[in-house]
Amino acid sequence: MMSSNTEPNGSGRFQNVILMHTSQGSLVFYILISIIILRYAYISLRYHYSHFSRKPKQIPPTFPYLLPLLGSAIPFTFNCVNFVKRVTQYAGSLVPVRLSILLGEIFLFQGPENVAAVWKQQQLGSPIFVYTFALKNIFGMPQHALAPYKADNSGSHRRPHPDSNVASHNRVDFLTHMDLFKAFGGSGLNTSFERTANILKRNLTGLDVPSDGWVEMPDFYGFFQDQLGAAVIEGLYGSTLPRLSPSFIQDLWSFDRATPKFAKLMPRFLIPEAYQARERLLDSIRSWYRHAREHFDESAIGPDGDADPYWGSQMIRSRQKVLLEIDNQDDDAIAAADLGLIWVSITNLVPSSMMCTLHIFRDTSLRDRIRSSLDGVFDEATWDIDMDKVLRKPLLSSVYAETLRLHVQAYITRCSPHRDVGIASWWLPKNRVCMVNTYASHMDTSFWNTRNGAFPVESFWAERFLIDPHDPFSGPVRHNVPASQYKRPAPPGTDDEENKPYFSVQGLEGAWIPYGGGYAACPGRHFAKRIIFYTTSLLLAAFEVQILTKDLDMDSSSFGLGTQKPKQRVRFRIRRRVGKLGA
Ligand code: HEM
Repeated sequence: MMSSNTEPNGSGRFQNVILMHTSQGSLVFYILISIIILRYAYISLRYHYSHFSRKPKQIPPTFPYLLPLLGSAIPFTFNCVNFVKRVTQYAGSLVPVRLSILLGEIFLFQGPENVAAVWKQQQLGSPIFVYTFALKNIFGMPQHALAPYKADNSGSHRRPHPDSNVASHNRVDFLTHMDLFKAFGGSGLNTSFERTANILKRNLTGLDVPSDGWVEMPDFYGFFQDQLGAAVIEGLYGSTLPRLSPSFIQDLWSFDRATPKFAKLMPRFLIPEAYQARERLLDSIRSWYRHAREHFDESAIGPDGDADPYWGSQMIRSRQKVLLEIDNQDDDAIAAADLGLIWVSITNLVPSSMMCTLHIFRDTSLRDRIRSSLDGVFDEATWDIDMDKVLRKPLLSSVYAETLRLHVQAYITRCSPHRDVGIASWWLPKNRVCMVNTYASHMDTSFWNTRNGAFPVESFWAERFLIDPHDPFSGPVRHNVPASQYKRPAPPGTDDEENKPYFSVQGLEGAWIPYGGGYAACPGRHFAKRIIFYTTSLLLAAFEVQILTKDLDMDSSSFGLGTQKPKQRVRFRIRRRVGKLGA
């Protein structure tokens, strides 16, 4: 007889084996958890210790993370707003920090002194990894074309880095920057701006909006996308592109909405429409090339010496030559690079212009004050605006600066490809990604003036950037920030302006950073500033707008890539204040 008490039967043995394995499994599980917790405690201790016993030229400490391989990847990607706020603060100040992300590292440099030092460090340029990641995953550049971008460690300065031996025709970073500097600096700025402004004027004067009654519209941002977005595309890239592809602008805005998803590597089956929109955009750009190559000759260049109806501008004519001479490039490759440029020229400019105008029209007292300050700058007969005067208006300038402070949420990226470098009192190892986040800097409660909390950094305060000579508590910076960090700039000094509140961003180089900074700062910044001032003053002078949606809930889904906009559509009504152009 089988002794069931002493010898387990088949299923009993099986249960024992399971139990044994389960207890072994639990043991392994507990050991793993203990290792993870001990590791976390060790990283946390090192983190606090290195802040506690700061040494000069120290590498920023690693922010504690629990999961070994992932590091801080999940909160960095999916909870970015709160995460960035949390990791860049230590004991009430902004500090640099090292983040461990999927076996790699990112160094976030914050704090006015550190950020200003990032701008000044000559060894820092655009990180090749970030650039090629965007070209491939966001703008759809084919794999075969990426090699010269990856190999270009010569920097964006005229003189190549001495440790680089990239052939001169493959210096993509430097060559493309030269074209951008010419197009958006010096006399190039005037022609780019004049063209775009005239197209916007044409678009706005052609609106079917009467002066004796309101027209209600459902979406203020949509209005800017249609009017200003279209004007910028036509102004910079000519009339052929939108004429050949009438859905180009709509596709561009659909693509814009999906860029955070492309950046998170979402596959096609999750966002098929975004992939289709991107393909249509790339197709349109290639058709544009074919048409322009067939029809353009030098005689098509207009009287400003820059514009032509096919390529649009000297920038694009030169870019065609420069990009196609680089190894491995073809129309598929350069269409992706051009999609990047076209996207970057509208993605921040249009929402920033819209938010600036929205803040003004939402507050009727602010609207009236800015309107009266703009007296005499608008010519009703020609709809011309005296830009030299407009750009010097203190209150409008303050509203512009405050709009960008509050809403631009971008990562600015740098890398030192050849050697370790010092950044203020810190040290950055070579070939690592260094980032500065505009949001962390713009929300720095230890730096920005809030009038003792009356105007928190998260709120819009039209006068934040105005300095009143008679009020020591006015101006953008808290009055207790030490003079070594911020010195109040002198007033402009003309008799006319003496004793009046004035605007200045002098001394804010490491704090007000919507356009990045240093040599690699946004090349379109002067163009963008002019367009924002122009659009705002033209709408104020020629139209009356009433914002009907009262509550604004802001959308940060493009955090890291650009500018916030309202989550919901903003309803408004509009009517003309002056006659149509030429009427
Ligand atoms: C309010 C509007 C704009 C904002 C807030 C903005 C912001 C920025 C920022 C933060 C950067 C990174 C700068 C850095 O690395 O230091 C950048 C780069 C760039 N921006 Fe803008 N931008 C605006 C408008 C424009 C416009 C109108 C253009 C015109 C084409 C433009 C073209 C570019 C280009 C080409 C780059 C990349 C430069 C590079 O490769 O290093 N931006 N922009």
